[in-house]
Amino acid sequence: MSLHKRDILSVKDLTKEEIVKILELAKWYAAKGRTDHFKGKVAALCFFEPSTRTFVSFDLAMKYLGGSTTGFQSAGATSIAKGESLQDTIKTIDSYGVDVIIMRHPQIGSAKTAADIAKSPVVNAGDGSNEHPTQSLVDLYTIQERKGDLNNLHIGVLGDLKNARTVHSLILALSHFSPRFSFISPKELAIDDSYKEELKRKSIDFREVENVNEVIGSLDVLYVTRLQKERFETLEEYEKLKGSYNIGRSILEGAKKDLIILHPLPRIDELSTELDAVENAAYFQQTKDSIAVRQALLALIFGVPS
Ligand code: CP
Repeated sequence: MSLHKRDILSVKDLTKEEIVKILELAKWYAAKGRTDHFKGKVAALCFFEPSTRTFVSFDLAMKYLGGSTTGFQSAGATSIAKGESLQDTIKTIDSYGVDVIIMRHPQIGSAKTAADIAKSPVVNAGDGSNEHPTQSLVDLYTIQERKGDLNNLHIGVLGDLKNARTVHSLILALSHFSPRFSFISPKELAIDDSYKEELKRKSIDFREVENVNEVIGSLDVLYVTRLQKERFETLEEYEKLKGSYNIGRSILEGAKKDLIILHPLPRIDELSTELDAVENAAYFQQTKDSIAVRQALLALIFGVPS
């Protein structure tokens, strides 16, 4: 099936073959750089929540395809601040005839709400603590670039596994490639049962630990995430867990030489800058790779022949 004019709300909207196709085309765009293949196409970037990477890389991806962007980077800069609903905001943007709506919003399911209203395809750029499907495409691309193969890897996922939407999408995306997962988190931030059920259903091996040192020696990939402060119900709960994990250079002592460390960013205090210069660090490669991956996804939505 083609991705032409399709909504991308969840990793579950993509088959393994479609994920592979996006990654292949991303490699092509990474080599090619800027093109004018989609001159005249317009993306509306509707960001109701803060973003640096997702907003800027989608903006650049559109421009590197020869297209252009419109939109906003803060709900406060829109008529939402006057009390307008999400539904009316999306109806308005859709009425302008844009070619794609790329939306980030704090509510789980908001991208689906927008897709149900809009005629234009909607891409979920993060809906609350639910999913961030295009980040997981970036993550897979960087893993493939660094490891050469996505299959049969032992992936350690460390941090706020309850609230981190990038983690949720990553688990679903990697599940196509026979992974083994180690989920590393304080008990309060453990991965939701629904993801564990999904992995059991697919016969994918996983374990849960509280200390990364229990699994570091056999990891191929360590994926670190920050505490998602904005998702905690109270500041007290956040303060209680703040600083409960921190990855520094010493993590490499017990690790495989070719371990790669990923982080969707932003980071706060969970990943030391002392790792930035080491070969194992791949998080600024993720940011770089994200433009080509988003070019590929947009090109397929706009209609690259399949
Ligand atoms: N990875 C990611 O979603 O970063 P931003 O919040 O800066 O977009």
